Amino acid sequence: MKHSNNNSSGTITWRSPSNIALIKYWGKMPVQIPANPSLSMTLKNAFTVMSLGYFLRDDQPAKPSLEFLFEGKKQEKFEKKIADYLDSLLPAFPGLRDYGFSIASSNTFPHSTGIASSASSMSALGLCLADFLHGRGWLETGGNALLREASRLSRLASGSACRSVYGSYTIWGRVPQIPDTSDEYAIPVPFKIHPEFHAFKDAILVVSSREKEVSSRAGHGLMNDHPYASKRYELAANNLLELSKAMQDGDLEKFVMITESEALGLHGLMMTSNPSYLLIEPNTVNIVNRIRHYRKETGIPVCFTLDAGPNVHMLYPAEYEIKINEWISGELVNYCENGNWIDDGIGQGPVRIIHNPESGI
Ligand code: DP6
Repeated sequence: MKHSNNNSSGTITWRSPSNIALIKYWGKMPVQIPANPSLSMTLKNAFTVMSLGYFLRDDQPAKPSLEFLFEGKKQEKFEKKIADYLDSLLPAFPGLRDYGFSIASSNTFPHSTGIASSASSMSALGLCLADFLHGRGWLETGGNALLREASRLSRLASGSACRSVYGSYTIWGRVPQIPDTSDEYAIPVPFKIHPEFHAFKDAILVVSSREKEVSSRAGHGLMNDHPYASKRYELAANNLLELSKAMQDGDLEKFVMITESEALGLHGLMMTSNPSYLLIEPNTVNIVNRIRHYRKETGIPVCFTLDAGPNVHMLYPAEYEIKINEWISGELVNYCENGNWIDDGIGQGPVRIIHNPESGI
């Protein structure tokens, strides 16, 4: 790969984190428009580093060429997915077809943990592409336009990815009561978060690393004919407003209540889809019960959320870290696959990595 950054060739690298939704995005309309708004916490340690190499081609190709390497190895499935995504951008950015791209991507979290990587990897892609398009003068510039466009491009690749473009807490989806929110891109929460929520931890308890049987994409599709769909969308929008208020007021009790209800509600939707399916496992339920008991016994405001899988994201204020870590290693690891868990927490968002040709980075 070349490291020059003129218009005809170069490399752009971004490090972008995963995020965990507190208010869940579940159900969508074309093209990647969410059926309800969602609110998430950006993580710190679970991230993707992606380099986008590009070069101007001198033949007259019908579409951009792409080579995709994941952790140094060719990955045909992802390559095809990203190639299709690039093709879908051609009507908006016809100049893309004149370029060849090579993407090298790697994650900090092991594949074997079953932690979804689409939010971090697709946001890294959105950031690299926005940067590339911006460098060609094909994107609006000024203010926070680069991140907004990166969020929009990330959304088109995977909905939840658009929320990873900003650190701390993020909202995606139009909420009439909250200014600047949009269905097309995420924004950082536009209100002052109470200090209770500034230093939050997420212990990701890995119950199973098996690939899930029903993809999120298919799960979203099942919402189209879901008997509870319209009530769910209404409830999610309300929960988002309530949670936003709790986060401004420092109301941990309400935060815990809404976050857990969203997590179980998401899995309730899966169980009542047609066909119905179940992604939680016995140890998911064991951990959920243990968290609720522990909270009652100790008064520590620890709670759980779940994404579309069996692993538990245990959320708590960082001041309880020592106690919680003792509890995890003394008990909760027994419910984790091979004792596996990931120590994560709130993060500051993506970082552009500057290339230094001398160091080879
Ligand atoms: C349960 O963003 O993975 O994690 O837009 O089809 O790529 P696509 O779906 P995806 O769905 C995520 C669903 C969720 C909830 C959430 O992150 O809000």
